[in-house]
Amino acid sequence: MMEYFAVQGGRPLEGRVLVHGAKNSALPILAATLLADGESVIHNCPDLTDISAALGILSCLGCRVRREGATVLVDTTGRRDHVVPDELMGRMRASVLFLGALLARDGEAVACWPGGCALGARPIDLHIRAFQALGAEARSWNGRLSFWARRLRGRRLALPIPSVGATENAMLAACGAQGVTLIDNPAREPEIVDLQGFLRCLGAQVSGAGTGRITVVGGRPLHPGEYTVMADRIVAATYLCAVAAAGGEGELLGTDGAHLAPVLEALETAGCETGWEPGRLWLRRKGPLGGAGSLCTGPYPAFPTDAQPLLAAALAGGEGKSKITETIFDHRFRYTQGLVQMGACIQVEGDTAWIDGRPLHGARVEAADLRGGAALTVAALGAQGASQIWGLDHVDRGYESLEQGLRALGGRICREAAG
Ligand code: EPZ
Repeated sequence: MMEYFAVQGGRPLEGRVLVHGAKNSALPILAATLLADGESVIHNCPDLTDISAALGILSCLGCRVRREGATVLVDTTGRRDHVVPDELMGRMRASVLFLGALLARDGEAVACWPGGCALGARPIDLHIRAFQALGAEARSWNGRLSFWARRLRGRRLALPIPSVGATENAMLAACGAQGVTLIDNPAREPEIVDLQGFLRCLGAQVSGAGTGRITVVGGRPLHPGEYTVMADRIVAATYLCAVAAAGGEGELLGTDGAHLAPVLEALETAGCETGWEPGRLWLRRKGPLGGAGSLCTGPYPAFPTDAQPLLAAALAGGEGKSKITETIFDHRFRYTQGLVQMGACIQVEGDTAWIDGRPLHGARVEAADLRGGAALTVAALGAQGASQIWGLDHVDRGYESLEQGLRALGGRICREAAG
């Protein structure tokens, strides 16, 4: 059934909302449950379609999974397979993370090439090279990838770019490699530190996450663990940008600003007031929203690429000029077409968008990807009049009922069924 967000914009927000657990932390953690026999317990696990896909993969591999509210329990005792099902592999790119865990446990893993958001080319060459460096043979035939290793051996891996997924897959595979693995130039995202936290709960010897070198002492049997996933910093950024777009004030609970410095700085440059303490983060905008100057996305701790569409959506409805350069993905400005339908003045040339803020009006728009759909929703809250945002299958991959969260902040938004 086709659904859309019906948004009535143009009114300041006021409210408070609890930020749910991080999709991009929960996904590698769920893959990591395969490293141990028994039941692991994951708290603050968001209820999203990508998480459902990950639980579906675990079930297909023979694990018993169940959800009790925000807690997911994964019992791997009955696991019997190492082939990730095509349908689920094709639904999201993070399915590739199961390869590292399966390789660590069984010495083999098979899957079709991963799917996911249409953010340009999304190769997995760095994942494959990491597995090969640890001693795995890789074969690609008939659209499928298969890896096999008699024995994985620890060694030094130097990533040419700090890929989040390749770092996570290298950590997972290294847990099954005999000896010490050094991962140099890893991604430093907070979600990598969260994965390290879970691996340690399983008894793994992992250190250095968040720095320039991650060390894994692998080859030892691991046991199930219990862990609480960090809050989703991109969902938090989404809510902040919604308040920035519409004006008013919003309080976010269950999170803080520790991992959002570049986003908070950009919003303050544009005229918002922000503040945070452990467990609480707030933003208010009483005056006009100005420009954010010139900013560039990059690997953590730089401005996060996932927050780029959200900030742009707020700035487009403001009164200032901004320039955003996207350095991570080569197709991450598709959402600007929807903003232009709302009256935005945005010039995109290659990896750079120039925004000349002006009042926006409601429109019927379609999401092309996850954060792009959230961005159009943010813009609609600041726009005068009614909007419809279609393509919620993208949005539901990364947000646990975005409309409920925005309503808690005072937004006039509801989910409607077509027809
Ligand atoms: C993760 O994707 C996130 N997804 C993305 O979030 C996020 O945008 C991205 O990291 C960057 O922070 C999950 O964690 C599930 P990368 P990932 O490997 O791991 C190139 C969202 O909205 N690359 O760091 O796929 C790649 O093409 C999603 O929640 C290679 O060339 O990102 C890209 O240009 C969107 N070869 C750059 O590296 C490889 O083998 C960064 O990709 C791997 C990546």
